[in-house]
Amino acid sequence: ILKMTELDLSNKRVLIREDLNVPVKDGKVTSDARIRASLPTIKAALDGGARVMLMSHLGRPTEGEYDESQSLAPVAERLTELLGRKVRLVKDWIDGVAVEEGEVVLCENVRFLKGEKADDEGLARKMAALCDVFVMDAFGTAHRAQASTHGVARFAPVACAGPLLSRELEALGHALENPKRPLVAIVAGSKVSTKLTVLESLSKVVDRLIVGGGIANTFIAAAGHDVGKSLHEPDLIPEAKRLMEQAKAKGGEIPVPSDVVVATEFDASAEADVKKVDEIAADEMVLDIGPDTAEAFAESLKEAGTIVWNGPVGVFEFDQFGQGTRILAEAIADSSAFSIAGGGDTLAAVDKYGIADRVSYISTGGGAFLEFLEGKTLPAVAILESRGSEQAAAAG
Ligand code: 3PG
Repeated sequence: ILKMTELDLSNKRVLIREDLNVPVKDGKVTSDARIRASLPTIKAALDGGARVMLMSHLGRPTEGEYDESQSLAPVAERLTELLGRKVRLVKDWIDGVAVEEGEVVLCENVRFLKGEKADDEGLARKMAALCDVFVMDAFGTAHRAQASTHGVARFAPVACAGPLLSRELEALGHALENPKRPLVAIVAGSKVSTKLTVLESLSKVVDRLIVGGGIANTFIAAAGHDVGKSLHEPDLIPEAKRLMEQAKAKGGEIPVPSDVVVATEFDASAEADVKKVDEIAADEMVLDIGPDTAEAFAESLKEAGTIVWNGPVGVFEFDQFGQGTRILAEAIADSSAFSIAGGGDTLAAVDKYGIADRVSYISTGGGAFLEFLEGKTLPAVAILESRGSEQAAAAG
């Protein structure tokens, strides 16, 4: 893949696709992690003398319509503050924008345009015509084959990977392709069904796959325990059994918690009780792993060579069900392993327990992070790979 850092950008029109899809409330950005992650790329392009145009989506607006509530205006404002220079938001940009040297223009939400999501060729060609160099830097949207992530890369005069995208691919590749062992992954979330492919691919490569949340409940049931009224998927019990056997056959394991935190209600004031896994009552639901389990899992994290974390193991929004996630988060922070965390809820847990500085790499990807873990090819990366070889051949 051709990299932005290898190119002379001086006075070039450089169109950068970032993932600035951030949460916005009352016209203000409430978490600017993705904006901050894009800053080194934007600064590098400016330092290289580029005329910078930024593209991003925000939310999932109705296609073909301008919708003020999903405008990138709050992002432009935050970006202006962080960059320390004016970022000009342009509402109508697809037919051409004049950008001065040293200027940064933010093109309004790409998902207001008809054809963006369908990866329409006509739209992609128009985007490509805006630039001399297209920089794909939106790792968080690299799993979407859309006009601004994939189509434009086919037709731009030059298409390359931005520094953030390159960093993400390196960090994730490092964790999965040739990991320092033991490799321990934590995959948690409410349903086995939505993370089945991740569980499938990780169960073949990891030494230990720690499951949590509703996913763990299905595994607890698969191990033959009654899970009371816990969220779980009875239909997927055979799958859970198969995954446990598959992990074992490859020399790894998917451990089942020995104790759990239960409650009879699900709310902020619910009373938490610790139970052995074979003592869950019919009216109880599992909302966290228990203290013995958390300690045992924490030990294996401390001894790990590589850790991949996606998903809090309990309902950590309520403190009485957050101890398992806190203990694992602290073990990750204390571990000398190369650790990588990704996904919206995971990053909220990383923030809540204040370990952001002690995780080796925090991914900006949600869905893209998961698809990478599943071993899927990200279409916006694949097109850069094929353009890369073609561009290298053209360069002689
Ligand atoms: C994300 O937040 O995961 C990305 O920005 C992709 O957004 P999407 O799921 O709406 O395509």
